[in-house]
Amino acid sequence: MTSSQKLRIAVLGSGSGSNCQSIFNAIDDGSLNAEVVIVLTDIKGAYILERAANRGIRNELIDCQGFKNKFPLESQQALAAQLTELNIDLICLAGFMRLVKHPLLNAFPNRILNIHPALLPAYPGIAAWKQAIDDKASQAGCTVHYVDAGMDTGEILMQAYVPVLSNDNAESLHERIQVQEHILYPAAIKSAAARLAL
Ligand code: GRF
Repeated sequence: MTSSQKLRIAVLGSGSGSNCQSIFNAIDDGSLNAEVVIVLTDIKGAYILERAANRGIRNELIDCQGFKNKFPLESQQALAAQLTELNIDLICLAGFMRLVKHPLLNAFPNRILNIHPALLPAYPGIAAWKQAIDDKASQAGCTVHYVDAGMDTGEILMQAYVPVLSNDNAESLHERIQVQEHILYPAAIKSAAARLAL
């Protein structure tokens, strides 16, 4: 793609979708030259679907074959075919709680991003902000990274720092991390798009 073309994005999430909303907002304010083509979730009724529907964006439930946490390879294969058919340039994981493996990684090499609520490589995995509080860390933050077959292990693209305050609890820290996430993710997507245009 060239830098004048709109980046075609697919967003995958499992929850509220506030990071997906931040991508919508960056498109609306003109800071991100992109189109969210489809929003997908593994959780029936997840609010991220409603955010997409409100904008008239295609939104669908991924068929995970009844598995609660697993992301079966057949499901990933089907999703890879669907996203290839839609000419997706970049897949953005935004609170998506299943591990992406080779069917998607091979179909979209260096084209899958994830946002994680910690300064990776510190605190990979779930509830990273809580890990930072339990660890009495003085610095927390968020990371956007390329996705590989590990859990939160791919090449780091951008990070933002959030200080841990003396009166922070897990909830207050997570709230402040999310404020930074909503700035960081659109900026990182822009940077990933610039790399694709090279
Ligand atoms: C974010 O904190 C993100 O870093 C993590 O999951 C959360 C998703 O929040 N991976 P939302 O659904 O985007 O509001």
